Amino acid sequence: MKNIKNAKWIRHPEVYVDQVIEFSKSFVTDSEVESATLEITSLGVYEAKINGKRVGDYIFAPGWTSYNKRLQVETYDVTGMIKANNHITVGVAPGWRGNYMAAPFHYAGNFIGAKEVALLCALEIVYKSGETQVIFSGKDWRARQSKVRYSNIYNGYIYDSDYFDRKPKAATEFPHPTEILIDRVGEKIVEVERVGAKKLIITPKGETVIDFGQNLTGYVEFTVKGEAGETVKIRHAEVLDAQGNFYTDNLRDAKAEAVFICNGRKQKYKPPYNFYGFRYICLEGFSDEIKPENFTAIVVHSEMKRTGHFECSDERINKLFSNIVWGQRGNFLDVPTDCPQRDERLGWTGDAQVFVKTAAYNYDVERFFIKWLGDLRADQTVWGTIPHVIPDVFGVDDECSSAWADAATVCPWQIYLSYANEQILKDSLDSMKEYIEYIKTRLVDGIWVQHWHFGDWLNLDGSSDQDCSKGTDKQLIATAFFIYSSEILIKSMKLLGEDASEVEALRNGSLEAFRRRYMKEGRIAPEYATQTACALAVRFGVSDDIAETAAQLNELVTECGHIKTGFVGTPYILHALSDNGYVKTAYDLVLREEYPSWLFSVKMGATTIWEHWDSFREDGSMWSTSMNSFNHYAYGCVGDWLYGDAAGINADESNPGYANIIFRPLTDERLDYVKASLETRKGLVKSEWKRENGKTTYTFVVPEESTATAYIGGKEYVLKSGTNEITE
Ligand code: BGC
Repeated sequence: MKNIKNAKWIRHPEVYVDQVIEFSKSFVTDSEVESATLEITSLGVYEAKINGKRVGDYIFAPGWTSYNKRLQVETYDVTGMIKANNHITVGVAPGWRGNYMAAPFHYAGNFIGAKEVALLCALEIVYKSGETQVIFSGKDWRARQSKVRYSNIYNGYIYDSDYFDRKPKAATEFPHPTEILIDRVGEKIVEVERVGAKKLIITPKGETVIDFGQNLTGYVEFTVKGEAGETVKIRHAEVLDAQGNFYTDNLRDAKAEAVFICNGRKQKYKPPYNFYGFRYICLEGFSDEIKPENFTAIVVHSEMKRTGHFECSDERINKLFSNIVWGQRGNFLDVPTDCPQRDERLGWTGDAQVFVKTAAYNYDVERFFIKWLGDLRADQTVWGTIPHVIPDVFGVDDECSSAWADAATVCPWQIYLSYANEQILKDSLDSMKEYIEYIKTRLVDGIWVQHWHFGDWLNLDGSSDQDCSKGTDKQLIATAFFIYSSEILIKSMKLLGEDASEVEALRNGSLEAFRRRYMKEGRIAPEYATQTACALAVRFGVSDDIAETAAQLNELVTECGHIKTGFVGTPYILHALSDNGYVKTAYDLVLREEYPSWLFSVKMGATTIWEHWDSFREDGSMWSTSMNSFNHYAYGCVGDWLYGDAAGINADESNPGYANIIFRPLTDERLDYVKASLETRKGLVKSEWKRENGKTTYTFVVPEESTATAYIGGKEYVLKSGTNEITE
């Protein structure tokens, strides 16, 4: 960042809510150009063009951060774009800044609804003569309304191809802090894939619908030729209802529409400022013949490198795996969001915490989380609490929910484990300490007591399935998570050479309290015994008899025959079982396809992970419209068990970043083979097992720079770099 802080923030002199403003400036260069650099950011999301050509491929720039505290600046090399006579235009739409609606929340009024959009930029041109010219945004720029007459992140857009604002105004300068500017820390958001229409459907209601065959996040590029003034509309939906009609009730207040006003000529259009979560589109008002090839879905997300792959002999599991990956793709759009479609699309901390481990297998998410954790720290409150969503659009609160707020410890720790990134621990250490200090103020005799937590969100222990957060005792969950988070803080402090004895004492106090209050003879006391309670006690090491509590968990699962956990217990239940000898029970849960299970959604035709175990039911009904996303990655956390246990690829805490690899594959006679690969910073890691003629052959690939050990059937094998084969 060199010049931008000397530029002036500009906006249109009038306030236009939910509109795109186009800023422009013409300029000439008078000698040969050596280099040209554009530094740019906006309040809202921008798309810049020089001489009619798009600058860069970053969409929805400058991304979504805690805007009042951190605003990213992008620097583009635009040398090849500069001519003698030049015209720069920058369209700015409200983007995430306009998401003040999130209607169902009582917090809605707090949304950061800086309704007017604004621009800040500096274009530096260095001439071969050695002279330099800098063009700053300022009142010599023009501002006009654009053809995008309406743009709202939840509702969509209205594009009038015939509109032209013939009365541009001089832009208005206004004060807005520049201390909040930072160079881009996250990944760019880009178009990553084009998906063609798979089917044209006329629904029983007579709607014209296109099926793209995959629930995805992005937008539709289309070609249309309509009479001048003719309006066509594209609506977006994730599913068709049981009758096969277009279904949008689950989008709640998000209209998710694209409205296009034709001008009599054939035009190809794609919206630069809006995204939708959809598999189906419904076409309205098209008078020319509808040809599926005129519609293409464009998938967008953060530019992350794909690192992990998994495959096994059961096609249903392979489909589940594909759904997990698509869930991540749909929700890793600069911020890890709960869902991409309804009037929410927020960076829910709990969801991110639940899924981060799987995410770090599927893709290289180091940079993605470095950015988001920067916002988490920026939004952490003076009390040490962590807001429910990051960026925080709900406003500060002096209480926070366990398992959600623990994103502050769990996420940095996972990034450290996967990428050996010690810096993230250094950067997060104070935030972790403040969070633990906050909980300390809520501890009564070692138990985290507070009026409110989300609890084991969406579990099946409550008396009805709409009882989202009942079930496992909330203080039990909170105290177990406090012990777990303290443990992460203790490990981080020791690693960074700090004395952790105070936190250890605090952790030990809660550990004893947990055991006193919740445990009886090595088991979770009967009045507190749920699958989630046992899974946490085992996995977080808070039980005083891990083997006994794991046996209890195994009994609870086998007695009822299925999973009952919600967001809190689901990431741990399989590990808690398979780590303690109950491999078959873990596989039973993974391979079950009746409701409730992961494969139930696969059986029902899902192409992403559902928010609920029964988002769609066999009788054709759905979970209530109040909260029913078909693209919610949280339960996709089963992915980390597939990589880490079924295939057996694990990082080692004491030598992270896969410098030492622990292979611990678990076989099951219902599968003939399992294979997974992971592109680590050390190189490609592979693990495969296959059963043939009563024997199982294991193949492990270890990168040159790594060490590795395999644990198979109670035996330990020290592996060499390259390919290792073991037959049992
Ligand atoms: C979101 C969740 C989130 C939850 C908090 C929901 O509306 O979609 O995924 O974690 O609220 O309980």
